[in-house]
Amino acid sequence: MWKIGDLKIDGRVVLGPMSGVTSRSYRDFMKPFGVALSVTEMTSDVGVIHGLRRSMDYLRFGPNPPTALQLFGSDPSVLAQASEAALKANRNIDVIDINMGCPVAKVVRNGSGSALMKDPKKCGDIIRSIKRTVDVPVTAKIRLGYGSNINYEQVIDELEGAEVDAVTIHARTMEERYTGTPHYDLIRGLQERMSVPLIISGNIYSLDDAINDVGMTGASGIMVARGGVGNPFLITQIDRYYRTGEKLPNPTIDQQVDWCLELADGLIAEKGEELAMNILRGVAPKFISGCYRSRAYRNRLAIETTDLESLKKILFEIRDRMGSERIRTECLSKDN
Ligand SMILES: Cc1cc2nc3c(=O)[nH]c(=O)nc-3n(C[C@H](O)[C@H](O)[C@H](O)COP(=O)(O)O)c2cc1C
Repeated sequence: MWKIGDLKIDGRVVLGPMSGVTSRSYRDFMKPFGVALSVTEMTSDVGVIHGLRRSMDYLRFGPNPPTALQLFGSDPSVLAQASEAALKANRNIDVIDINMGCPVAKVVRNGSGSALMKDPKKCGDIIRSIKRTVDVPVTAKIRLGYGSNINYEQVIDELEGAEVDAVTIHARTMEERYTGTPHYDLIRGLQERMSVPLIISGNIYSLDDAINDVGMTGASGIMVARGGVGNPFLITQIDRYYRTGEKLPNPTIDQQVDWCLELADGLIAEKGEELAMNILRGVAPKFISGCYRSRAYRNRLAIETTDLESLKKILFEIRDRMGSERIRTECLSKDN
């Protein structure tokens, strides 16, 4: 058990925010696997203030597990105003998290996301301004730095000075976006040098990844993002290990098929069949990516999934052929 501000976090695994993926139904689906804290997709501060439909959709969720609303923006007072408005709209928001790591051009162009790391003082001002306005913990998600400027320590100093309640660090620079090996070596022992909990992010695809990277950094929390897409049981493996020391085996294709269909049901209920299928054409193949000889099936799932019936047809065929096989960690593809 650890704490973000006064909020008790029961478990190590934080479900990472992924725009276009970690919607409410995705987070609800992942929760029973052992998620201790969930983070919403990034949400525009101005969108919340103006009550835009898309932004308000991100605010709709229930009380469990603890959930952080992630906001992006660049102006301390606008972000504070948005935080206040969000909490008025949904009292189930447990934490306000500020995106200081997004490298996408349309976000950076406005001085938001990872552009904020170019101005560490402003990072602190943002947290200070929000903390003055709302009564929930306030956290930030940062990167190592930008270009050759590895300035995360300076940014963390400013954030801590502003009484941030926790910091997530994605161990890549802005320019590295989402590819290449994260540089956990650069943040060795970082938790010890911090006064608030550290959550690490970047290429957590297996229990061994989590053990290595927590070992190196001493982090309190482990963020699972892409590694959990199509492999929800990874969260259970990490959660269980840190509770009991037990290393659970990987799941079977049988289980993967059941979970993929459960996710499909949730996505359809949340978004309707057509939109759900758009998402599932990207996500369903990942449920079988840890199998030898699965490429043809992955391609079919990516192309032929047009409705729930077609998804079931392919998944049941996969189950008939290799249902008892366990997914293999060494076959999981990273960086995609
Ligand atoms: C498609 C996609 C969307 C993302 N959206 C967000 C976001 O909205 N907010 C955020 O802080 N990080 C976002 N991220 C970054 C992830 O939360 C995570 O830090 C990053 O993917 C590294 O972890 P991983 O290598 O385990 O996936 C996104 C990543 C991906 C791949």
